[in-house]
Amino acid sequence: MGRKPKIQSPTGMHDILPEEQVFFQKIFNVSQEIARFYGFQKIDTPVLEHIELFIKSIGSATDIVEKEMYVLRTKGGDELALRPEFTPGVARAYIQHGMFNLPQPLKLFSFGPLFRYERPQAGRYRQFHQVNFEIFGERNPVMDAQIIQILYNILKELKIKNIIVHINSIGDSQCRPYYKKILVNFLRSKSSALCADCRRRLKINPLRVLDCKEEKCQRVIMQAPQLIDHLCDECKTHFKKVLEYLDEVEIPYHLNPYLVRGLDYYTKTVFEIFEEGEEQKRQSALGGGGRYDNLIKFLGGKPTPACGGALGVERVVIVLKEKIKKEVSFSQPKIFLAHLGELARKKALKLLEEFRRKKVWVGESLGRDSLKAQLKIADKMGVKYSLILGQKEALEGTIILRDMEKGTQKLIKLEKVVEEVKKKLKKL
Ligand code: HAM
Repeated sequence: MGRKPKIQSPTGMHDILPEEQVFFQKIFNVSQEIARFYGFQKIDTPVLEHIELFIKSIGSATDIVEKEMYVLRTKGGDELALRPEFTPGVARAYIQHGMFNLPQPLKLFSFGPLFRYERPQAGRYRQFHQVNFEIFGERNPVMDAQIIQILYNILKELKIKNIIVHINSIGDSQCRPYYKKILVNFLRSKSSALCADCRRRLKINPLRVLDCKEEKCQRVIMQAPQLIDHLCDECKTHFKKVLEYLDEVEIPYHLNPYLVRGLDYYTKTVFEIFEEGEEQKRQSALGGGGRYDNLIKFLGGKPTPACGGALGVERVVIVLKEKIKKEVSFSQPKIFLAHLGELARKKALKLLEEFRRKKVWVGESLGRDSLKAQLKIADKMGVKYSLILGQKEALEGTIILRDMEKGTQKLIKLEKVVEEVKKKLKKL
């Protein structure tokens, strides 16, 4: 014990230990409830997909596709990749199952693990989880606002305060190419002042230069032309509407003209969600998303407008652990069943089943012999009552009910014990 085992979990991939499960479960429960309210249905897609799906959706010149995908070749020769995000898989499923024939908009949500071969550090892992929301078949900007509202509400419900949404519009196929040209011309004239990565980005994905965090690049970016000034009328109206809706539901946002996001499929709205004051830190975005009106068509489906967003579960867990540790307590049973002797152990085993069927949660330590040791465990659980089944009681068909705080005891008939306990628990 205590020595480092030879085989450890892979770098950047973590066990979610029993004591952490409560956070994950809480995030999932809150998200599921909110998803249901807004009319989302759950969808699970495979963890592995054909690699072309990600290359086509996310873009071949993005960090995710260039550097971060886990790729494998199957024995049959298929090239598959572990999903780095949900959107491409859910979009594929939408097309594959003809979901455009269902009443639109179609709202789908997912929860599960994702994989990116990134340099691991606090808040950035190689296996992580998201709660993800997608809306297909609606071009109205109110949907963009609703996605933001959903992620915002989940964080609020989890009692995370001071949330701020960074938002931008990156235009569409009408206005973005024109802006790209202006940007490239500007950046070319300053290329000697850019970092090596940005000089490369300038050739393959110039918009990404805008969210480089290098200080030298920041100085150039501050003077760069902004997309927001070059949006076409449609994109401008769309963006204005999204902001109006956010104002209406009082969601605080910050217009960030440099927000471009690392995925190629976005059109118009893009956003990221932070805790206020944490925005400048790397790996601090709790969530992000945007509109992607061209992806479904690009993947071979009917032209279908869409938008979505996701929260990074581990990042939310980090905040929860820091901020509301005291409020999130592990749930424990309120009653403990102790036994003394072999006959009592057998009867206790059976009695537990009766409690389970009647949906009363009872703690136990059936493997232990000593009553003292069992009551110690009951104490640690913080139960209100213990049931003690000794040899004599087992023979007589009775059981002792002990109030753990007061130390008082009462003998009750075994056949009445479940009802009796239910009554007591109701009064708590
Ligand atoms: P994303 O911004 O790449 O968007 O990821 C969303 C969130 O996942 C991030 O804000 C962050 O909290 C978390 N996240 C991302 N990478 C990691 C990592 N390596 N370790 C821990 N957490 C991470 C998407 O994935 C889009 N598919 C969202 C979307 C849905 N857009 C439209 N629909």
